[in-house]
Amino acid sequence: MLGNFIYSNPTRLYFGKDALNSLKTELERYGDRVMLSYGGGSIKKNGIYNKVIGILKECGKTVYEDAGVMPNPTVHKLYEGAKIARENEVDLILAVGGGSVCDYAKAVAASAYCEGDPWEMYYEKFEEPVCKVIPVGCVLTMVGTGSEMNGGAVITHPEKKLKVGHVFGEELYPKFSVLNPEFTYTLPKYQMVSGIYDIFSHICEQYFSGEDDNTSDYLAEALMKSLIHSSLIAVENPTDYEARSNIMWTATWALNTLISKGKTTDWMVHMLGQSVGAYTDATHGMTLAAVSMAYYRLICPFGLKKFVRFAKEVWNVSPDGKTDEQTAAEGLCRMERWMEKIGLVMKISKLGVTDDMISGLVKSTFVQTGGYKTLTESKIEQVFKESM
Ligand code: NZQ
Ligand code: ZN
Repeated sequence: MLGNFIYSNPTRLYFGKDALNSLKTELERYGDRVMLSYGGGSIKKNGIYNKVIGILKECGKTVYEDAGVMPNPTVHKLYEGAKIARENEVDLILAVGGGSVCDYAKAVAASAYCEGDPWEMYYEKFEEPVCKVIPVGCVLTMVGTGSEMNGGAVITHPEKKLKVGHVFGEELYPKFSVLNPEFTYTLPKYQMVSGIYDIFSHICEQYFSGEDDNTSDYLAEALMKSLIHSSLIAVENPTDYEARSNIMWTATWALNTLISKGKTTDWMVHMLGQSVGAYTDATHGMTLAAVSMAYYRLICPFGLKKFVRFAKEVWNVSPDGKTDEQTAAEGLCRMERWMEKIGLVMKISKLGVTDDMISGLVKSTFVQTGGYKTLTESKIEQVFKESM
């Protein structure tokens, strides 16, 4: 296994049907002023809001509500949230929602006392915060991003047509996250499968890099197999606790930095998908699904050995009587069939991309160099065109 690395993860997780009971214990660690950030209202419909408010009141907290965090949170909402946090001198930001709310809470936590413009500092120059940072806790209601146990905070600048992720250091990881799989039962199927593919893509982005024998790859294969298995159960029966809990746990491990250890990592599918997201505001996991097959078919010859291993280990393709190219191609076909079966959107045109957007999409795509092939602008254009 190559590479030098540090592994540490400071987030405390509470997992299972009773996980929310632990919120009381966690709240004792912080002051009385709590900013409650949430999305467009799903938590009011499914009762999670009432449960959380009940606990906050019981613990004697003063609550500053910060509603309306949109999917793909914008820089404008970030400025608004930072103002609420600063003016009320909050002691904790409690994010109740999906990756968007969790990401946003971290960005607000780093921005409330930021001397300069947070967008410029964190999303253009990728600097680390030098100001006071507010602690963040999460109650997760949507599964996929891994935001519950990492430092990622993706923010969209609609006018600049940029969707950018800043991966903050440990100071910005949630101090704690509450993971109750039952809280995800009310997710619309579209969101559930989008999250499932987000998880799969996170694993692939780390797996498809490097050529050395690395324990991280064996872990990645196990996570992919569990996810494929549980996804097929969950799409048939969304309230199957066993499947939903396995998906939730897989999501956390897919992106809490463990399986990136010793890997250069790729992340090109996310760069392509985020560009689509910046132009269309489409659901994150769907943007990834819609560009994946064109991208993986393009890079397959450059990482052939790994694609053969992927076909054999993850998709049970027999190599007998086949060339390596045929085995790898069969693996990608099986992956594509699984994606179609669970109901993913497979074309960016179905997410609102039109031909006249392609040149802008190419320009908004950040090029990564850790995968099997560094893409030129013309190859990026090719992937977008083949994904239409
Ligand atoms: O806003 P509400 O009304 O809550 O509705 C949300 C939203 O419309 C709904 N929802 C969430 N929980 C629900 C529910 N509806 C019913 N029942 C529930 N229990 O689902 C919709 C999507 O929520 P969102 O938080 O946007 O989804 P997701 O968790 O996929 O987060 C996406 C954001 O995370 C970023 C993405 O780019 C995107 O901005 N990412 C963050 C990462 C990280 N921190 O490491 C990595 C990822 O690759 C990703 O980029
Ligand atoms: Zn993702």
